[in-house]
Amino acid sequence: MAERLRLGINIDHVATVRNARGGALPDPVRAAHLAIAAGADGITAHLREDRRHIRDADMERLARELTKPLNFEMGATDEMIALAERLGPHAACLVPEKREERTTEGGLDVVGQREHLAPRIARLKAAGCRVSLFIEPDKAPIAMAAELGAPVIELHTGSWCEALAHGEAEKAQAEFERLRSGAALGASLGLEVHAGHGLDFDSARRLARVPEFVEFNIGHFLVGEAIFIGLEAAIRQMRKAMDEGRAST
Ligand code: PXP
Repeated sequence: MAERLRLGINIDHVATVRNARGGALPDPVRAAHLAIAAGADGITAHLREDRRHIRDADMERLARELTKPLNFEMGATDEMIALAERLGPHAACLVPEKREERTTEGGLDVVGQREHLAPRIARLKAAGCRVSLFIEPDKAPIAMAAELGAPVIELHTGSWCEALAHGEAEKAQAEFERLRSGAALGASLGLEVHAGHGLDFDSARRLARVPEFVEFNIGHFLVGEAIFIGLEAAIRQMRKAMDEGRAST
């Protein structure tokens, strides 16, 4: 059996709910502590250019207080890289970011942005961050991630999850195959392979069967599920789903 999968919890949408009222509650840092107590192996937070959910003060507190690794998700801008250099998170996950999008749509264009990314990846590595590139599960970006010297890739699971949600069986099968072969290619190139975006209990259980995946990063579904069963129970159930999937490899 492959190794136990790590579960990273993305707390962005706790901040989304807080910001809807403009006050201090619910506190995303409290959610991060609770997630760790419930078995999370790390915490992810995305400081977007427009600060629509996580804010600078949240990032500062997360970097200071967490007892498990912090994964700082960011656009590859000089502003964000300078912040990562100052805060020193365990990991930095580079994602594409467009101001108008509702969420991170599609992976980072590592092939087209190679010149832009190379020096920024080098800066993050020099600051001691484990750099991860959030990319589509295709050959060209995976090979480019290896060439750029990023130790980690996170494969975008959004298209697969959407196909599952819409009951598009054939498309879902093709998307799963893309993820499976992408994970195998990444691992064969010496990359650590993560996955994330849109995962729920069922899709996480299924994807855990692919042995090359080392970590899943999950947020929106769990924050939604927390409304019904509580965040701690939702995280424990996710942990169980991932362990069940992995046990059946
Ligand atoms: N990983 C990355 C790189 C992401 O951008 C996101 C979404 O912010 C996630 C994981 C988590 O996705 P979701 O909130 O849909 O679980």
